[in-house]
Amino acid sequence: MHNELNLHPNIPKFLAQPKRMLINGQWVESTSGKQFETLNPATREVLTKVAEGDKEDINCAVQAARKAFAEGPWSRMKPNERSRLIYKLADLIEQNADELAQLETLDNGKPVRESRYVDIPSSCEHFRYYAGWVTKITGETFPVSAPGNFLNYTRREPIGVVGQIVPWNFPLLMAAWKLAPALACGNTIVFKPAEQTPLTTLRLGELIQEAGFPDGVVNIVTGFGETAGAALVKHEDVDKIAFTGSTEVGKIIVGEAKGNLKKVSLELGGKNPNIIFADADLSKAIPAALAAIFFNQGEVCTSGSRLYVERKIYDQVISAMTEAIQKIKLGNGLMPSTEMGPLVSEEQLKRVNDYIEIGQKEGAEIYVGGLQSDETELSKGYFVKPTIFTNVDDQMTIAKEEIFGPVLSVLPFDNTDDVICRANHSTFGLAAGVWTKDVSKAHRVANALESGTVWVNAYGLTDAASPFGGYKQSGIGREMGSTALDLYTQIKSIWVNID
Ligand code: NAI
Ligand code: MG
Repeated sequence: MHNELNLHPNIPKFLAQPKRMLINGQWVESTSGKQFETLNPATREVLTKVAEGDKEDINCAVQAARKAFAEGPWSRMKPNERSRLIYKLADLIEQNADELAQLETLDNGKPVRESRYVDIPSSCEHFRYYAGWVTKITGETFPVSAPGNFLNYTRREPIGVVGQIVPWNFPLLMAAWKLAPALACGNTIVFKPAEQTPLTTLRLGELIQEAGFPDGVVNIVTGFGETAGAALVKHEDVDKIAFTGSTEVGKIIVGEAKGNLKKVSLELGGKNPNIIFADADLSKAIPAALAAIFFNQGEVCTSGSRLYVERKIYDQVISAMTEAIQKIKLGNGLMPSTEMGPLVSEEQLKRVNDYIEIGQKEGAEIYVGGLQSDETELSKGYFVKPTIFTNVDDQMTIAKEEIFGPVLSVLPFDNTDDVICRANHSTFGLAAGVWTKDVSKAHRVANALESGTVWVNAYGLTDAASPFGGYKQSGIGREMGSTALDLYTQIKSIWVNID
């Protein structure tokens, strides 16, 4: 089955053995000996078994990270050497890009054209961007007016042992977003990938070993959120938690972190408005609106799941989108022609299907798409048809909650003030899009939106150099860019009496 799809020769070898965890530079079984299965969401076939880490394993990993931070060569290493190691890791990812892309697609379901041309190269870019920062993390001097004569300067020091927990929608890329800045700033790490998609992180662990990072600098514990994840969040010797995932779990983390008042940064959900004004270039806005919701099966925190369209062009936009949707090729992500793969898991399939039913019950209309019938070939995997709801009210569940699937609500609006107010009427504030040829209006709306990112005549772009994060319940802190350095360093102010 796998060979028909031209799998990279390393992959069958990699999957043949149950996967172990990386702790203190060694590949180890879980203390309990337990394992869990990871599946191919396109076929529901078991890919391999993975060590099921829990509290004990987290504790071992935290100890290894603490030792590496306190006494290991990592903290004593010259910045240019740390930088070189991170560059080396990026090179290794690039050299193994085909294999990593297929592995990502097998574990997550996403089309290989996306994993190969988005996830893997963006991960490389991310490591390179932060490799460049290592030699540029500086302090400042301050002209203090205190009586006497002082040199006052700051140092930016690493925070220490950092716990990082990520979701399953961009497994390797999320690992890069987390690991790259934390490493650049000199921290040591206990990393927990999502239980649905551990494989590329484990392959990354092999590349981390190959690059030559000292033991204990990056530890990878695979396991479930409620056990391994929770133990990491509660651990008294973890100095910071960085989390990407649901707002629900983000709130749990804020509560649990209080034990030792560890620092917390969070990238959470979104219900992102994408606004098309009547004067927009529709030849660009419509394909972008489709990509905004159907890229990565809609399993994207920035997905443009609320599409606001000025009433004058509403029918035109809907019919153009409907026509384009019929052409989207659903299938096994390993096929190069596939444009949309399955959702990641049975659980996610059920969640998205439930939202489709709730939408109908509350009176919205399925304009195109809807529940997948059981008889098709695709029912072997966790597939959902690209779906558009019309007749949606802002108060409906499908217009308020994050669905995290290929389900779009299209809502008409009448004027600028109306649409700003409705766009902002959300507990989330992660991302938004504005489409118009009127420059003044574009800036006015961009300024008024309560959102960590606003794209004007574009949608969905991220870049290692540009800050990313959420307003309101979409998160705490800004990853990427120089702002991520704030998340992974602490400032020490030093006073030297020079009288
Ligand atoms: P989740 O938030 O439960 O899982 C994300 C990560 O957190 C995983 O590694 C998981 O093992 C871990 N985790 C779960 N419970 C934990 C706990 N109590 N303590 C520490 N770590 C814990 O997300 P899930 O259940 O996979 O998806 C549910 C919904 O969350 C999705 O439908 C979507 O709406 C949203 N979500 C949002 C993401 C985003 O990027 N904003 C990513 C993934 C999910
Ligand atoms: Mg969960």
